[in-house]
Amino acid sequence: MNAIFERRAVREYANEKIDEEKIQKLIDAFQAAPCALHQTEVMELSVITDPELLKKIEDNTNNSCYNAPLVFMINTKKDSQFGERDASVAAENVMVEAVDLGLASVYVMGGVIALNKFPEFQKELGMDEGYETSVLLPIGYPADNGKPEDRSNRYKIVRK
Ligand SMILES: Cc1cc2nc3c(=O)[nH]c(=O)nc-3n(C[C@H](O)[C@H](O)[C@H](O)COP(=O)(O)O)c2cc1C
Repeated sequence: MNAIFERRAVREYANEKIDEEKIQKLIDAFQAAPCALHQTEVMELSVITDPELLKKIEDNTNNSCYNAPLVFMINTKKDSQFGERDASVAAENVMVEAVDLGLASVYVMGGVIALNKFPEFQKELGMDEGYETSVLLPIGYPADNGKPEDRSNRYKIVRK
């Protein structure tokens, strides 16, 4: 099995806790992501499992995290030209590692726009001053038996 090809966007999660060892592996995958110009201060991560905070995220973002038991909130420095790029490559690392661990996830941008309107709550979630959320990653055990759609021709490819 190749986790890249097994990964798919999952929006329904089982009500099952993720053990600490797996959460640590997901954090390791985040840490192993490419980092533009080695500017490590561009990006920070909040790992959220507290049920009250998870509920507050859902309430403030129109349920954008699909009631997942774990949310990775990837925050990047405001006005950094690398922020969204660093966050996106890190998110893919985490999403692929999640598949390898039997978990599922989805890249969420909609909820980010909502969440960035609540700086006090973001602070409560651990975000530092001068940062904004770039990607939210709900993570959990998939509640469906879905398969990835055929993506073999998703994009136009030119070979010369
Ligand atoms: C930049 C970006 C933003 C996205 N935003 C959302 C989102 O806000 N909510 C959501 O449910 N999925 C979101 N997705 C997930 C896509 O909908 C999903 O990747 C797409 O449907 C393709 O499905 P696949 O990931 O299973 O190949 C986003 C994906 C990307 C790359």
